Amino acid sequence: MNLALCIQQDVPLTTCNTLALTSRAEYFCRVTSAELLCEALEWARNKCLPVTCLGGGSNIVLAGDLRGLVLLIDIDGMQAVERDKDMVQVSIGAGKNWDETVRHCLARGWHGLENLALIPGKVGAAPIQNIGAYGVELSESLLAVRAIEIDTGEVVTLSKADCSFGYRDSVFKGPLENRVAIMEIILGLSTTPRLRLDYPALARELDGLSSPLTAELVYAAVCSIRRRKLPDPAVLPNAGSFFKNPLVSDDVAKALLARYPELVCFPQDDGRVKLAAGWLIERAGWKGRRRGGVGVHMEQALVLVNYGGGTAQQILALAEEIRGDIRDQFGIYLELEPTVLGL
Ligand code: EPU
Repeated sequence: MNLALCIQQDVPLTTCNTLALTSRAEYFCRVTSAELLCEALEWARNKCLPVTCLGGGSNIVLAGDLRGLVLLIDIDGMQAVERDKDMVQVSIGAGKNWDETVRHCLARGWHGLENLALIPGKVGAAPIQNIGAYGVELSESLLAVRAIEIDTGEVVTLSKADCSFGYRDSVFKGPLENRVAIMEIILGLSTTPRLRLDYPALARELDGLSSPLTAELVYAAVCSIRRRKLPDPAVLPNAGSFFKNPLVSDDVAKALLARYPELVCFPQDDGRVKLAAGWLIERAGWKGRRRGGVGVHMEQALVLVNYGGGTAQQILALAEEIRGDIRDQFGIYLELEPTVLGL
């Protein structure tokens, strides 16, 4: 059944963002199918209105009201579209909850997503920032993204190469930013477990467990690390990591290591070194600090939280203060990780 398009005016977005910031949409529409998404985009095109797509709202800072049409993408569904010997291609609707997707794949014996357990948000947002955790990135299993061009209404299929994935980066944050509405992703998953245990914190968590290790144990281990370190947005509003881990040259990393031997850093394949921004921020004394209604999380300095009544301006001012301090103390420039909307 195709429900009629329901476009509302002047809608509060407080429950549509995990930082629980106050903001309103000029027009708002929840779409549950590709057809409704097409219709909604056509409606906005006819009125020459800008369009903003929202998923779980877990990686955005709503800095003001959103003009034009805000689309809550709620297209569900997951199915195997092709199988061969030890691989399965799975198509997943953009509105499906991410962690539910990981659990459903695991239950069917489709492997590759275990390390990405419990990441808040929905499937459609996953390729935008190329979600990653505990040594694995979405780009490793993504085969294609199906989307609709906002300006033309045309359906496009982007291959993995078209997506230009990088660390927390993709074409959807670059040339295609605000140009397409993602409706579906296609993943290639393995029908035999291929455990990825190289991330130090994960290896430590699993250390001592009686073998054999299974994908289910990896999923459970990732969940317990996350539950210990990362605040549940339903309990303490936040947008996950607020800064990217900076990538620096080997020389810069060596110079910092000479000053701070305990510096946490991860050499990359391209010769650069990824620094743990959380370590820098903690070392600079920010862990647990508060500014009005907002603050730096007690357990993970990379996460800014809204204790209640915090505003986007307070969050962004705190982020600026931290960035300034890290620049002054370490000569490192931190980049914001979430997308700021409504400025
Ligand atoms: N660290 C500190 N102090 C802190 C936080 C971290 O010293 O306050 C140190 C840790 O002890 C560890 C290192 O920094 O040695 C790395 O910490 P962690 O494993 O917690 O990971 P992260 O680099 O801080 C990244 C992702 C997370 C992801 C984890 C696990 C980014 C921006 N963040 O954080 O992703 O869950 O790795 O893989 O890359 C997110 O994107 O929202 C997110 C939570």
